[in-house]
Amino acid sequence: MNLDDMLQAMWQDYLQLNPDARKIHLLFEQHNSQVLNDHIALRTFDLEEVNLEQLAQPFCRAGYIQAGEYDFPTKHLYAQHFEHPDPQHPKIFISQLMTEALSPDNQLLIHSLIADIDPQLPSTDQFCYSGRPWELSFSEYEQLLTESEYAAWVAAFGFRPNHFTILVNALESHRTIEAVNAFLKQQGFQLNSAGGEVKGGADQYLAQSSTLANLVTVSFSDGETQIPGCYYEFALRYPLPTGQLYQGFVAASADKIFESTDSRQARDS
Ligand code: NI
Repeated sequence: MNLDDMLQAMWQDYLQLNPDARKIHLLFEQHNSQVLNDHIALRTFDLEEVNLEQLAQPFCRAGYIQAGEYDFPTKHLYAQHFEHPDPQHPKIFISQLMTEALSPDNQLLIHSLIADIDPQLPSTDQFCYSGRPWELSFSEYEQLLTESEYAAWVAAFGFRPNHFTILVNALESHRTIEAVNAFLKQQGFQLNSAGGEVKGGADQYLAQSSTLANLVTVSFSDGETQIPGCYYEFALRYPLPTGQLYQGFVAASADKIFESTDSRQARDS
């Protein structure tokens, strides 16, 4: 599958869960000659059938190269990012949950979900936007949620982009994260304020903010419920002493960005 077609299919899948992203993208398009996507984030479990390596395969076949790696010990996550030689293509950020860090009950549940997958599916180019390949009840979702918001999100939504990211450096209309945030709020969008609206900064070579994930109606085996879906992210990258823009991700601040899909926070705001 052609890389542009794959990225476009991922964008269309993402818009189904996050229609606000289309509105925000259009708003920035009206004020800028181009709106660049900095990165796409994917989430998975570390079990070998579906792990980070498996999700990365279509991107590596399309010319992406593994660049940075990251640990998020408090959230039991490990991540890598991938870069394409053509900088017009977004970076791909893939995280995976260290399943063994969870309680035996939740480990068992995750193993039972993975056992439901068609073994051919993970090796296809479509896997990263194929959605949820298993049945899940709302009580199972809640059981995971008590221990890991991330695990509950993957269980409910399956394999699909968690967020896309507007590269603020490429905007002519808004030069800082603060200006982007003010514009979004003025337009009526809610931002993730966990740990402050701006995560990171010049000292970390990366500043990011994000919208709060909007609620999405999900079909569980015992009925439909609204839960937080996907968010839209904004990244400002700072030049390294070499003059080149930093292309990595910062574990300390990304930890808070993961909370943009936290249902407890979404309910509070
Ligand atoms: Ni991100």
